[in-house]
Amino acid sequence: MKKRIALLYGGEKSEHDVSVMGYKYVSSLLNGSPYEILPVYITKMGEWYVGDKSQLRAYPCAYGGGGLYTEDGYVRIDCVLPLLHGRLGEDGSLQGALDIMGVPYVGADVCTGAVSADKHYAKLVVSSLDIPTLDSVVFSSFEDTEGALGKCKEKLGFPLFIKPRRLGSSVGAYPVYDEEDFRSCFSLSMKAGGNLVIAERMLEEKRELECAFLEMGGKRIITAPGEIHISGFYGFGEKYGGQTRVSARADISKEYAERISDYAERIAEALRLRHLARIDFFLSDGTVCFNEVNTFPGFTEDSLYPKMLEASGIPPRDAILSFIEDALAC
Ligand SMILES: Nc1ncnc2c1ncn2[C@@H]1O[C@H](COP(=O)(O)OP(=O)(O)O)[C@@H](O)[C@H]1O
Ligand SMILES: [Mg+2]
Repeated sequence: MKKRIALLYGGEKSEHDVSVMGYKYVSSLLNGSPYEILPVYITKMGEWYVGDKSQLRAYPCAYGGGGLYTEDGYVRIDCVLPLLHGRLGEDGSLQGALDIMGVPYVGADVCTGAVSADKHYAKLVVSSLDIPTLDSVVFSSFEDTEGALGKCKEKLGFPLFIKPRRLGSSVGAYPVYDEEDFRSCFSLSMKAGGNLVIAERMLEEKRELECAFLEMGGKRIITAPGEIHISGFYGFGEKYGGQTRVSARADISKEYAERISDYAERIAEALRLRHLARIDFFLSDGTVCFNEVNTFPGFTEDSLYPKMLEASGIPPRDAILSFIEDALAC
């Protein structure tokens, strides 16, 4: 009997469309694979549907159920490929549910997902490795705007960057140039981020360099860095509008490339990344500093992650098949 692999996609509002595009690309890569592919579409409201036309409502079975209940009966799942990003997809929540269901999955586990998804916690781990990170301030849930502004002025100065700790896709992220800006952006960011916000010193001149981490055939690989060619804020529109130029291979010196690879290797070890991740850095004024890590990076045809694999001679299809094989062996 063929192993049945559930491709979970859709989910949270801000990352929904990119997840749907990721599903289209990845399912096409898996055509003719040795597995039976089961699409599982998650609506923006969190309802699960199975089948090619997403016609059948499904409910995950808890406590070792290992599959889904549907109106047509029980559907066994041998492994999940969660093509989901951000909250409830990449942050350990789904992974916890799958652990309880007793279904193996591709990608980071609960703890790695949760720590990596929180920009403050991830930075704490990375800075403990003596890898540069940007100075930052976090606020308590009860912080009022004036108190937060005081802390930022004292520790960071202007300009600064404010962003939710646990959201992606640049949602709720704002460049802040002065006090007036701060007053209007702080509450917006707090609202978007569920009162969990981080402020950082803003880099006005920077390059955005990212590398792919993957595990294949029992080996860890860090690809050469790629680059997002953006001079200012890489916002939601710039990410998904299709206008931003990206390079699968950044034009940087050997020295910077080696430094990024060394940092990425150590970050992968410290966070215990599994199967795949994209590790993002800024290069500014001769310093490479860690920005963030995505434990399930964008995986559409146009995403930098698969492009970086290709540029390193790794077909994305082979990588995905290897992740599934490894997850099934767990
Ligand atoms: N401290 C900073 N200085 C300058 N630009 C920043 C800073 N932090 C974030 N940005 C910009 O905002 C974008 C989104 O921030 P990021 O931390 O990567 O969050 P997200 O999870 O939303 O991608 C970055 O790609 C970058 O363009
Ligand atoms: Mg980012």
